[in-house]
Amino acid sequence: MKALVRKEILAIKPYITGKPIEEIRRELGLKGEIIKLASNENPLGPSPLALEAIERELRNLHYYPEGTGFSLREKLAERLQVNREEIILGAGSCEVIELIVKAFVSKGEEVISSQYAFTIFQLATRIVGGKNVVVPAKGYGHDLQAMRSAITPKTKVIFIANPNNPTGTMNKKDEIAQFLNEVPENIATVMDEAYYEYLEREDYPNTLPYIKEGRNVIILRTFSKVHGLAGLRIGFGIAKKELIQLIHQIREPFNTSRIAQDAAQAAVDDQEHIQRSVRTNREGKLFLYKALQKEGFNYLPSEGNFITIDLKTNAQKVFQKLLREGIVVRPLEMYGLSNAIRVTVGTQAQIRKFLTALKKVMKR
Ligand SMILES: Cc1ncc(COP(=O)(O)O)c(C=O)c1O
Repeated sequence: MKALVRKEILAIKPYITGKPIEEIRRELGLKGEIIKLASNENPLGPSPLALEAIERELRNLHYYPEGTGFSLREKLAERLQVNREEIILGAGSCEVIELIVKAFVSKGEEVISSQYAFTIFQLATRIVGGKNVVVPAKGYGHDLQAMRSAITPKTKVIFIANPNNPTGTMNKKDEIAQFLNEVPENIATVMDEAYYEYLEREDYPNTLPYIKEGRNVIILRTFSKVHGLAGLRIGFGIAKKELIQLIHQIREPFNTSRIAQDAAQAAVDDQEHIQRSVRTNREGKLFLYKALQKEGFNYLPSEGNFITIDLKTNAQKVFQKLLREGIVVRPLEMYGLSNAIRVTVGTQAQIRKFLTALKKVMKR
């Protein structure tokens, strides 16, 4: 077998996802409620308008979708004040990450990302035989100066997760502006903004103008977070037309489904669900911060819908104990943070149950 498979593939450790509820029931035989706070999903569920759109579209499932997702791209273009040709859809923004790397990175070429950044960047690079240049973090966030210094003639792509998952850190408007001014034009900078809608800070960068200026910037957004459609797998990239056209060339003809495209269109219009989700997250996060402070836990303040907590003890063991309490969180060993868990900001009721279980298993 080893002779059959590409060397790069043999070296890959598969991505570990948040543990699915179905798997936990199967493995632990748990019958009661299971609260999943492991994958930064929306605790309020899908946009109700999206659910209605899905029902309407069900009877058309014998037809293939429109491959480019014309109507959804048109709608997004109108919202974002860009052109339809500047948008590409993916089965989640993860697929767009993979497509970008496949389109631009050849074997041995370099991709820059930050320590503690979303690990899919490194995985996508390994798959094509690219070289990961992982720059040490500064205070758990991206050290943009050091990332700029890591550029070599072999650099093709730079990934910036803003805010970053799992550390919740954010790079400010002026930092990003300075960074992008210094990045040579033959490099694509990817701004992964999966948690964009949750940001309410004035110093959060608006990156769309860089695309208007013709820069090689690709912005990634998703329907998996605030819109509550993670299970449908739909996200998108925004960049200048020439870049998007190149990425389209390697996209599977029908990479996003009819129901995903239609549900996403409805979700874009569901301002009520978006606002309720943002409010729930803001209030839940403050509640969680206070409770963690009260119990003496260290955590990283977060700009996303999740919080990373330093347990000062092996997080894998705590994760296993929490599972038995019906609470699923994410241990962060694969990020080199073996004492940390990441917890999604749930509803107030979910947060209370999480805190009770955490105190019980940590015996506080
Ligand atoms: C920073 C970041 N980027 C991208 C994604 C991928 O989301 P999806 O593929 O569901 O759009 C996630 C998901 O957790 C994320 O945290």
